Amino acid sequence: MLDKERILSGFRTLSLQHRVEIIDRVDSTNKRAKELLSQINANDCIVIATEQTLGRGRLNRTWYSPKGGLYFSMIIKTDTRVKSCALYGLMAACAIHEALKVEIGLQTHLKWPNDLLVDTRKLSGILSELVVQGQNEGSNFVILGIGINVNTLTEEFPEDLREIVTSIRTERGCDTPLEDLLVAIVSRIDWWLQTDPSLTKVFYVYNKVCGTVGSEVLIELPEMTIQGLAKGIDEYGHLLVQDVSGRTHMLDFGDVVYLRSM
Ligand code: BTN
Repeated sequence: MLDKERILSGFRTLSLQHRVEIIDRVDSTNKRAKELLSQINANDCIVIATEQTLGRGRLNRTWYSPKGGLYFSMIIKTDTRVKSCALYGLMAACAIHEALKVEIGLQTHLKWPNDLLVDTRKLSGILSELVVQGQNEGSNFVILGIGINVNTLTEEFPEDLREIVTSIRTERGCDTPLEDLLVAIVSRIDWWLQTDPSLTKVFYVYNKVCGTVGSEVLIELPEMTIQGLAKGIDEYGHLLVQDVSGRTHMLDFGDVVYLRSM
């Protein structure tokens, strides 16, 4: 079970006063966060679970969530100046990337839109969902769901995932306190929300750290496949891919496949 006092004392120095709900076992922290939003004024709430039974991923996938991982969802009131809600996910990816590097010396590869990999194996993913409340744009929320394989071992994952995932424990060879990692990430997300609430600077920072930028990529969309050079991310968070004919495609979702090894 997570140590709530350790988390709260880590949050004490932050300017945002988060309310924290810790659950031992839940289907999905994003789902629980949506329930909270429908019941109470849940702005700045964080739902954390020791384990998820129906963890959800992007593009209707599942997120395997046994004990030992970090699974949490932050409820954030959106700022009407933010050009696209996707920017919240990109900002969180930058925050996790930096927290892992600074706090535990783990260098990750940030793959658009918000996967964190070590070499080619996935360590962390983000599912951000927009919740529209009423007709007023000023009362929309983003649920930022973050999953990180922390103290699980790759061998403990189901066979079909073993070759494509990794964990901090696998990479470092030792355990990492979940509470400290959570505080390190949330404090960086808070810093962004406080200093750049319109998220205008996210695309500068993201372009610098994202490993997809400058790579030859292939992206399969429902109606077509796009192949070309990933030129960068625009201020909405779209990935700009230039194909061989010189045409630039502006993508807002999809799975990137690298055509050369990273
Ligand atoms: C992905 O890479 O597909 C995104 C995975 C996101 C998983 C996290 S774990 C906490 C939160 N609750 C969920 O059900 N999903 C997100």
